[in-house]
Amino acid sequence: MKHFLNTQDWTRPELDALLTQASLFKRNPLGDELRGKSIALVFFNPSLRTRTSFELGAFQLGGHAVVLQPGKDAWPIEFDLGTVMDGDTEEHIAEVARVLGRYVDLIGVRAFPKFVDWSVDREDAVLKGFAKYSPVPVINMETITHPCQELAHALALQEHFGARDPGSAPSEVLRGRKYVLTWTYHPKALNTAVANSALTIATRLGMDVTLLCPSPDYVLDERYMGWAKHNAAETGGSLTVSHDVDSAYDGADIVYAKSWGALPYFGHWHDEKPIRDQFKHFIVDERKMALTNNGVFSHCLPLRRNVKATDAVMDSPNCIAIDEAENRLHVQKAVMAALVS
Ligand code: CP
Repeated sequence: MKHFLNTQDWTRPELDALLTQASLFKRNPLGDELRGKSIALVFFNPSLRTRTSFELGAFQLGGHAVVLQPGKDAWPIEFDLGTVMDGDTEEHIAEVARVLGRYVDLIGVRAFPKFVDWSVDREDAVLKGFAKYSPVPVINMETITHPCQELAHALALQEHFGARDPGSAPSEVLRGRKYVLTWTYHPKALNTAVANSALTIATRLGMDVTLLCPSPDYVLDERYMGWAKHNAAETGGSLTVSHDVDSAYDGADIVYAKSWGALPYFGHWHDEKPIRDQFKHFIVDERKMALTNNGVFSHCLPLRRNVKATDAVMDSPNCIAIDEAENRLHVQKAVMAALVS
């Protein structure tokens, strides 16, 4: 049984097929691919885009979505094996996933890190627990990667650079473009998921990728750096780490921004706070964007204006963050339709 846990598990032709189907859904939103089918959307963390787009996406294809928030409107779930469950959790993932699988055809899971111990969080135990016990396909709605965001981002870039015009070749239009994933300031330490995902998909699409971050402490986990290096080697792209803002922006075709916590400080964020506070100048602003090759800007959202990016950048015609957010709806419909077919 195929899950959608990471794009890295899917072949390039499979990903291209999802993006093509998403383009078709964008032109013709209604269908019956999920008629009589249902999806459980299990949210351990808040959401605006993911919840709305999955619920509406299922509806537009004739299906039904049930939202569950364990610990709020559903029982708290245990994920450890062999635990004596005399604490706060009321049922085990072994029952939860199997029971949901008797009701629904798909399960979506959002489970952010607990931000205490990265060696624990990097195991992605919640997502893996669902995938292990579920008798139906599981979709990653953001854990330590965000593959749905990757597809939405890829589609928005392909659209911007003309690949989704009739007659053009979708897989080639991004190859060789200069792609900058820039860390940005945020008052809190955030998940690395979107950053991990951005490196993964940008290198998969054959781009020359620069990871711009304040210091080596902000380099991403070796698993995702490894995926990106592997992808770049396969596609003829490249991966460079830079701590120099101006040279990273220089000539960039794409600037993608995200804030994340420095992994060496995972769980003791009070030590990282004075360090990250020195890097507020990583904000994406007009001066930096002027260094680019009339570059396009995007962000997964939510975004704190004038902290991560200025009003002028967000309101610029080169900002495609809203297009990318819209594309969440179309790509997730393609993922759901592919997994139930
Ligand atoms: N980008 C994204 O996943 O948005 P939400 O957190 O609002 O779902």
